[in-house]
Amino acid sequence: MSSDANPHAAWKRAAAYAAVELVTDGMIVGIGTGSTATFAIHALADRMRAGLRVLGIPSSDRSAVLATSLGIPLTTFADHPRIDVTIDGADEVERGTLNLIKGHGGALLREKIVAVASRRLAIIVDGTKLVDRLGERSAVPVEVVSFGWEATRGRLEALGATVDLRRSADGKPFCTDNGNRILDCRFGPIADPARLEEQIGRIVGVVECGLFVGIADVVFIGDAAGVTRLERSPGPSAGR
Ligand code: 5RP
Repeated sequence: MSSDANPHAAWKRAAAYAAVELVTDGMIVGIGTGSTATFAIHALADRMRAGLRVLGIPSSDRSAVLATSLGIPLTTFADHPRIDVTIDGADEVERGTLNLIKGHGGALLREKIVAVASRRLAIIVDGTKLVDRLGERSAVPVEVVSFGWEATRGRLEALGATVDLRRSADGKPFCTDNGNRILDCRFGPIADPARLEEQIGRIVGVVECGLFVGIADVVFIGDAAGVTRLERSPGPSAGR
């Protein structure tokens, strides 16, 4: 499909290429997952062909495969426990706070591990991902261990969510890179994402949830007007 027929792809691409300008020689770069992050992987590979030297830490097996195929060398937390900058997509970005919902690509656990290990988290989205309140459009993906997932679902429902077990295209339960399930939890607009993240995190069987509160440092938003850059106001960074 051409970018005229699908302007969102062009907006994502523009945001991705702008964010990759943050990367400088010698950096350890966290590599995100999803269609927007895919543009960033291509942008990074383009810059490497022009001489940039970096090492990447991918947030999913599929991003690892793509990065490797494009000649981006990878490293691990064993060798580099701190990441200089991570560039990743998001499903919703809350105006003002830059809190996020992530994980509709199913990579939320590794994405959060990579994000909180990063000195800087840059998020790349098209303008349709901006919301006034997290949850107004997207469900919150929650990664749970498969054992007893039905009981875990009940506890998430008790928090007020409508919960669906995510399935793959073949109808089978979706399996994450970590061998877990995803429960998509629809809460509607979320008044206090930090509190909800804490409540979800206390449920036995939950591995991680897709609420990213106080973690994003900068968001690049592509839309018909070009790319806008929003910076989070200074304050404590969650988990860092
Ligand atoms: C994957 C993610 C993605 O970053 C998020 O779903 C956005 O995806 P896309 O860039 O394809 O719209 O969190 O787990």
